[in-house]
Amino acid sequence: MAKTRWGILSTAKIGTGKVIPGIQRAKGAEAVAIASRDLARAEAVAKELGIPKAYGSYEALLADPDIDAIYNPLPNHLHVPLTLQAVAAGKHVLCEKPIGLTAQDAAQLLVLPRDRLVMEAFMVRFHPQWLRAREAARSGELGEVRAVQAFFSYYNVDPANVRNQLDIGGGGILDIGCYPIVAGRFIFEAEPRRVVALVDRDPATGVDRLASAILDFGEGRRAEFTVSTQLTPLQRVDIVGTRKRFEITIPFNAPQAEAVTVYTDDGSRLGDASAVAQTIAPVDQYAEEVDAFSAAIRGEITLPYGPADAVQNMKIIDALFRSEKSGAWEAV
Ligand SMILES: NC(=O)c1ccc[n+]([C@@H]2O[C@H](COP(=O)([O-])OP(=O)(O)OC[C@H]3O[C@@H](n4cnc5c(N)ncnc54)[C@H](OP(=O)(O)O)[C@@H]3O)[C@@H](O)[C@H]2O)c1
Repeated sequence: MAKTRWGILSTAKIGTGKVIPGIQRAKGAEAVAIASRDLARAEAVAKELGIPKAYGSYEALLADPDIDAIYNPLPNHLHVPLTLQAVAAGKHVLCEKPIGLTAQDAAQLLVLPRDRLVMEAFMVRFHPQWLRAREAARSGELGEVRAVQAFFSYYNVDPANVRNQLDIGGGGILDIGCYPIVAGRFIFEAEPRRVVALVDRDPATGVDRLASAILDFGEGRRAEFTVSTQLTPLQRVDIVGTRKRFEITIPFNAPQAEAVTVYTDDGSRLGDASAVAQTIAPVDQYAEEVDAFSAAIRGEITLPYGPADAVQNMKIIDALFRSEKSGAWEAV
């Protein structure tokens, strides 16, 4: 099998820390080049991570004919523009979440050539713990699932961080609110009809720092979440059915290539006393995602997620921001 050749746009922390090691761990992929706005920075990272080529601009990397796939972990406002540029250069693109700033921004990706693949990088959808959770929901093991409840927070007030810059797509909803939205859609295998949100913004930066939302999936089903960029780090997802609940204890940042534990609980004893643990063998969710994308490029599999899925996620985010302003339910 010829490995799919990957080029990385920028020296972003998520790339150097997680996704490039994932590419290097993937069976069907290899990291062949990295670009930075600063050539010296690209060269330093290339040397450190064992990437053969370094470029001093994103455009130079995109012009390299020996690259099949681009990983785009730029700040949110550059996701759509650089993904479009990469596709115009003939590349397939795995683009970081959120795919854009708004659904309108992301909709530019709906008119791509059919033989170029673009996927939003929600690696969690490739982790066996999420697949196991969906199987528990699908099979009836949990009874009828009616509530998906998620919490995701961290504390970051660094004004230089991309998450605290409103004009380039900062804020908690775009950064981490997108994950509980994906969790609800993934587990219910349905789309929310309407949403309501309560949002608190940082007075200095203007970014949303605490947001809670309800997504109404109809038929008595809802996903609820709170996300924050200024609270103690916490992440949890509970999928609650009429017979049992399923708990993912580290749903979003599962430690790379380490085992994780999930729980099913019929609630017969409170305080988690009746929770039954299941260990999921070590896996690298980034490598899984990269392998799936690479296999799809080679035509071996069909991806379940593409631009339309990503635009749908943005429509839900747009509706949350409308609800913040209106204080009312907003249709998606
Ligand atoms: N899937 C996940 O697990 C996950 C986790 C964290 C973040 N993310 C996503 O990945 C993206 C990057 O996040 P990050 O925390 O890794 O960001 P980061 O470390 O700040 O990296 C962003 C990179 O973009 C380049 N860049 C180009 N224009 C820029 C500008 N105007 N301001 C700042 N940087 C600019 C810089 O690289 P050069 O200087 O080398 O050109 C910079 O290193 C975000 O979209 C975020 O939502 C995903």
